[in-house]
Amino acid sequence: AQNVAVAAESEGLGLCYIGGIRNNPAEVSSLLRLPEDVYPVFGMCLGYPDQNPEVKPRLPVESILMEDYYRDDQAEQQVSGFDSTMNEYYRERSGGNKDTNWSEQLKPLFTTKLRPHMQGFLQGKGFGLK
Ligand SMILES: Cc1cc2nc3c(=O)[nH]c(=O)nc-3n(C[C@H](O)[C@H](O)[C@H](O)COP(=O)(O)O)c2cc1C
Repeated sequence: AQNVAVAAESEGLGLCYIGGIRNNPAEVSSLLRLPEDVYPVFGMCLGYPDQNPEVKPRLPVESILMEDYYRDDQAEQQVSGFDSTMNEYYRERSGGNKDTNWSEQLKPLFTTKLRPHMQGFLQGKGFGLK
């Protein structure tokens, strides 16, 4: 999928991954007539953008790329700096309506079970999950 994304963007297309396809995996599987042992992981919308929004900020490269050995002594500082950057970005993009930051956005991914129905669904599809 990432190769598709890179190729599409190189041709001037824009895209959006749709993890939400796993909100109703049974319905999607039936629509797509997916056989046993196949399940929808995500969707991908592709199209020619009619907007040219500013590039979303990224974590500083030194916080994700390390040479020779792992370094996280600056991690807290880097994350808190990036949280400020993202808070500014979200407020600006939303006209002041979205007052959050990177850490807050990611928190539910690590603290809640987002799609608890997936285990039962996958077992029903023939995946031997326990
Ligand atoms: C695995 C994955 C699943 C996503 N699922 C959805 C989705 O269901 N609905 C949606 O509007 N955007 C979805 N997105 C897009 C994100 O909301 C976000 O707009 C996009 O990833 C661009 O931000 P980024 O460049 O920081 O990743 C998804 C992105 C990823 C990587």
